Amino acid sequence: MNDTFSIAIDGPAGAGKSTVAKALSRALDAMYLDTGAMYRAFGLAMLRMGVDIHDAAAVAAHAEKIDVSVDYVDGGQRIYIAGEDVTDAIRSPEVSEAASATSAVPEVRVHMVALQRRIAAGHDVVMDGRDIGTAVLPNATLKVFLTASAEERARRRCKELEEKGAPQPYEQVLSEIEARDYRDTHRAASPLRPAEDAVTVDTSDLDLEGAVQALMDLARQAGIRR
Ligand code: DC
Repeated sequence: MNDTFSIAIDGPAGAGKSTVAKALSRALDAMYLDTGAMYRAFGLAMLRMGVDIHDAAAVAAHAEKIDVSVDYVDGGQRIYIAGEDVTDAIRSPEVSEAASATSAVPEVRVHMVALQRRIAAGHDVVMDGRDIGTAVLPNATLKVFLTASAEERARRRCKELEEKGAPQPYEQVLSEIEARDYRDTHRAASPLRPAEDAVTVDTSDLDLEGAVQALMDLARQAGIRR
């Protein structure tokens, strides 16, 4: 019987995907899968092993060997490398770089996509990433491309970093966001782009509640009920 639903949320870094996806999954009582965390865990494993993250052949050789898994503790997703909880360790700027570089390697993507489909199989799921609507869940019940201007995303990231006690200059944050956007949209393997049947939601002028409400409305229109 196939009566589960899936919601694919793609978009650039800092558009609010994970916050919105988490809130939506709670409201709809669905599983939430942050696929970026999986690429981050893989990137962290490469850094720890001393693999050159820009050497595609070296990275590809490890694609199937790194044991990345997820679990849910108190409703929150935890991510593991070979059973070690690395949920906090994957949020550093070095790991962002490593994830961005190593996620461009096709062998890594093939492995991660298969893993993501296995994790989600049989569940109502809200998944966020870059290629969910185009590659991971091509038959998703609802596909959303969540975006916001680079300037607004940089402002949000600066606020987050400040709240964490690790402020960084706006100009630097903006140029990092623009560099990641460029890499994510220009790589050969599954570049970031909206699926043809995705609905684009621009969150530049929306707060969290507004963005969640917009997606709840889209979910209802797609026939998804709690
Ligand atoms: O969403 P994030 O910033 O945690 O993602 C980390 C990196 O992983 C980002 O540079 C893009 C990549 N990524 C990807 O290629 N495909 C996904 N489905 C999710 C993330």
